[in-house]
Amino acid sequence: MLKREELVKKAFDGMKNAYAPYSKYHVGAAVELKDGTVFIGANVENASYGATNCAERSALFAAYSNGYRKSDVVALAIVSDGDRLCGPCGICRQVLSELIGNDVPIYLSNGTENKDTNMGELLPMQFTEEDVIR
Ligand code: THU
Repeated sequence: MLKREELVKKAFDGMKNAYAPYSKYHVGAAVELKDGTVFIGANVENASYGATNCAERSALFAAYSNGYRKSDVVALAIVSDGDRLCGPCGICRQVLSELIGNDVPIYLSNGTENKDTNMGELLPMQFTEEDVIR
């Protein structure tokens, strides 16, 4: 497993690819898998603002698109160039709650401030696949 600062650095690499002409708020993410593979992601905006994809979903969708699943995810880093840490938005919390385990470490950083959290903490009382698949 990579050290916190190593995965955070990869998330900052992802942030360089942010396509954010509207908000000018740049976000990067990096997801580490059990076999050592790391996928980076960036926020990708659209003139139809609602079509924007957040960085953490970009990274996780890349991992899933390459065949990885929840049990493969060992850590996720989310970084931004904002003055405050970028806690995942509501849509991302719902998506992450299904795509990564509740105890998987999530490293937040903006270069000056750092915080470690997980989905159990970020989204209590989750609505999950178990509620839907009966
Ligand atoms: N954004 C993310 O990439 N992740 C989040 O969790 C919060 C918001 C992006 C979306 C948009 O491109 C920009 O930040 C401003 O909302």
